[in-house]
Amino acid sequence: MTGFSAEWLALREPYDARARNPEVLDAIATFLKPLPAVRVIDLACGTGSTLRSLSPRLPARQNWHLIDHDVRLLMQAKATPLAKDIDVTVVPLDLNRDLEAALDGEIDLVATSALLDLVSAAWLDRLALALAARSIPFYAALSYDGRTGFTPTDLFDTRVMAGMNAHQTTDKGFGPALGPTAAAFMIARFKSLGYSVVHGAADWVMGPEDRDIQTEILLGWANASDEMGGLPLADATAWLTRRRRAVEAGCSSLRVGHIDFFATPSATR
Ligand SMILES: C[S@@+](CC[C@H](N)C(=O)[O-])C[C@H]1O[C@@H](n2cnc3c(N)ncnc32)[C@H](O)[C@@H]1O
Repeated sequence: MTGFSAEWLALREPYDARARNPEVLDAIATFLKPLPAVRVIDLACGTGSTLRSLSPRLPARQNWHLIDHDVRLLMQAKATPLAKDIDVTVVPLDLNRDLEAALDGEIDLVATSALLDLVSAAWLDRLALALAARSIPFYAALSYDGRTGFTPTDLFDTRVMAGMNAHQTTDKGFGPALGPTAAAFMIARFKSLGYSVVHGAADWVMGPEDRDIQTEILLGWANASDEMGGLPLADATAWLTRRRRAVEAGCSSLRVGHIDFFATPSATR
């Protein structure tokens, strides 16, 4: 999988934090509230976005294992200022190769964000079966679900997004990715394994003042679409130029659909 820069993760984090579905977060807090202390595993943690969003809602005593294959991101995650009873261990690991090693020991919650849409059905199945075998609850935030809304609209939006959504299903190191269908796949898989699932939308909402992130996203989408060859380069470039002008003029808004869910096993551990 190509690297995710700390700069990009920092740019998106406030939008992610605002987007996280509040009913899903409440369900996690309610579920874990009776425990005197919790041990959480964050898969593909990046710089620790989920740690920062979720830890204030959990019981005071927390032990987090932050897992990623990018050591530079892990170092930043480790530097997160936290309340005194929160203990963090960072673990460099390739989750494609060593998923089972990431799930070692007593675990009260496995969490992840912005990962499911990057991985394959086979890997998701492997994760779901590993969690179900030990009745471990699972929180997955911010899985892209294919919905987008542009203001103003453009003639080429549909074709650029078709290319972008096709790019979402390419191999990012875990086999062919499920992309926009990953969250629905995983919700259905957990239900089939006897889990209860709370889920809801967690959309990025960007207004005219959110110029930097819109510029970055639009460039990424134009590049992804171009890689898939869906639109002639001249048309993709013209689309990006018009969109950038709208962003610079302060008249561009963007909604990007995501799904959050929390899956809890019916069996008690
Ligand atoms: C979109 S970022 C999400 C980061 C973080 N969860 C967040 O929400 O900000 C995807 C993360 O997956 C990590 N990643 C990608 N492939 C991986 C692999 N094979 N093993 C472990 N981590 C991986 C990347 O380093 C990156 O931190």
